[in-house]
Amino acid sequence: MIHGHVTAWALALILFIVALLLQSGGKAKGAKIVQMILRVLYLLIIATGVGLLFMVSNISVMYILKAVVGLWIIGLFEMILSRAANKRRTSVFWIQFIIAWALVLYLGFVELPMSILYVK
Ligand code: HEM
Repeated sequence: MIHGHVTAWALALILFIVALLLQSGGKAKGAKIVQMILRVLYLLIIATGVGLLFMVSNISVMYILKAVVGLWIIGLFEMILSRAANKRRTSVFWIQFIIAWALVLYLGFVELPMSILYVK
């Protein structure tokens, strides 16, 4: 489950960058297709994340925070892509993006116990 989760968000991050590159290269149609696949990955990220939550017997506030920050990142993927497509300013969202990623990586890898490093 955790491997599925990590694979899903790692792939989503790559596709997000690909979609941005396609957009900035003027390939709007290609970017749209990649964005569709990205949206399927959101569902996988959420499904595996909720699956992981079900494996936890005592859900602490850290888990809630982890889930909220995960959803925040998904929202930012969408916001940045749609604003960039419409040539609107994205700087505020990029700042949030950096903060949210720092938080989610800290919570996921350091603060919370499950890990791809030792859970099969
Ligand atoms: C793009 C969004 C997301 C990112 C980048 C992300 C990132 C991570 C990372 C880095 C880990 C730790 C993996 C490890 O230690 O090997 C993790 C674990 C986890 N994630 Fe996510 N996540 C996201 C979305 C979500 C969502 C939406 C939920 C809940 C609905 C969620 C719930 C969890 C849970 C419960 C764990 C296990 C925590 C533990 O016990 O260590 N995640 N995630």
